[in-house]
Amino acid sequence: MRTPPPGITLPPLAGGEHGSDALRPLLATVLDALHDGAAERGGPLPAGGPGRVAGRLRTAAEPVLPDTGAGPGEALRTLVHALSLGAADPAHPHCAAHLHTPPLALAVAADLAASALNQSMDSWDQAPAASVLEALVTRALADEVYPGPRTADTAPDAVLTTGGTESNQLALLLARERHGPTLQVVCGAHTHHSVHRAAWLLGLPRPVTIPTPAGLLDPAALDAVLTALRGPLLVVATAGTTDTGRIDPLTALADVCDAQGAALHTDASYGGPLLFSPTHRPLLDGLDRAHSVTLDLHKLGWQPIAAGLLAVPRTGDLAPLAHTADYLNADDDTEAGLPDLLGRSLRTTRRPDVFKIAVTLKALGRAGLAALVDRVLDSARLLADLVEDRPGLELYERPTLTTVLFRPAGAPDHAVAATRRALLTEGTAVLGRARADDRLWFKATLLNPHATPGDLDTLLRLVEGGTRR
Ligand SMILES: Cc1ncc(COP(=O)(O)O)c(C=O)c1O
Repeated sequence: MRTPPPGITLPPLAGGEHGSDALRPLLATVLDALHDGAAERGGPLPAGGPGRVAGRLRTAAEPVLPDTGAGPGEALRTLVHALSLGAADPAHPHCAAHLHTPPLALAVAADLAASALNQSMDSWDQAPAASVLEALVTRALADEVYPGPRTADTAPDAVLTTGGTESNQLALLLARERHGPTLQVVCGAHTHHSVHRAAWLLGLPRPVTIPTPAGLLDPAALDAVLTALRGPLLVVATAGTTDTGRIDPLTALADVCDAQGAALHTDASYGGPLLFSPTHRPLLDGLDRAHSVTLDLHKLGWQPIAAGLLAVPRTGDLAPLAHTADYLNADDDTEAGLPDLLGRSLRTTRRPDVFKIAVTLKALGRAGLAALVDRVLDSARLLADLVEDRPGLELYERPTLTTVLFRPAGAPDHAVAATRRALLTEGTAVLGRARADDRLWFKATLLNPHATPGDLDTLLRLVEGGTRR
């Protein structure tokens, strides 16, 4: 075995008994650089727009592959600082464009442990404890979605995914395997684009899209559409739409699906965590009537990406994902009692994303999670109040979840678009955009439980200032 040439040392590993000793000084460097980058940025987004960000990043990152390495301290310091300085920071109260959550510090700390141990969820011999934890947590979360009576054969279950997109893909895949390749997806115009892409990817007919002029999938309109269609049908409902945060009438839609013999999938990527809040849980009445439910804890669940789930009412519903690869789950290994994990995802190598979720659930409990959910829903109501109090601003509607659409009264669409871009370029506020009632609106998606009434007021002042320019 060769010894490394002079000047080259073998970098230490993160795992094992001494991994923490190697990590400690590196983490100190990372934490300092995170802090300094955020302080230098001083706002939710780097000022100066794409050109300035790219120039600074190039200076830090190039040469990307030098002949002689800069060493761990220098590489971490320079690149973490550049990443932090150039970040869109969802922890800043004026970063409110997307379902882009500020992760909890405790979840990020847990994710570090997951990275250091690098368990891979495709076989028991790569993740003995993590696989037990995944089974416990996914079943507990599936129980939240499907709380009804069960037997050993009818216990609900869930699989971890990379987010709402993969969960919706899996939902359509499971439905196609159950009902055949002529399965017709039927959804509202407000349905997330991932459903259309999933139908395309899976070779299903193009989804029938029902207009949603009132922002919701109307049960009577759905009934009329289903009556006119033949063959196997899958309706997709949404609990928390991307643009307005509205929740479809889940019970009424489930009634229509039952009467028409259609399967139902509900995309609760956004609204799912209302399950934790006794105050707001009733908004999800009827969620458990769906044959599959998408959840996504990297939205209203304060997890670092990725933390998606797909829940089903019975473990057996996941059977189409079963798969054997001799090196991972040979029959004799499975018969000898080694858990078979390969059928819990379409992926092979897979991060233990469950770990940060497990730590969060245990640390906060139901009450802690409910407090976070309630707090951001309160923030959205307060922002709506503040908009309504300003004659120069128009509110689209009272928020259902944490999305607030507003615009300067009487402004043309191009002024809304230009103000949004000006705020991005200044780095002072990150707002989204949404088209509703055929007009362009600012979209504030409030996921930061630490945002104060003063922060919300300042956000509106920034918009008003930007619009006047
Ligand atoms: C309703 C809805 N479903 C699915 C998704 C996709 O989730 P992800 O980006 O985690 O794949 C989103 C993303 O915003 C969403 O709003």
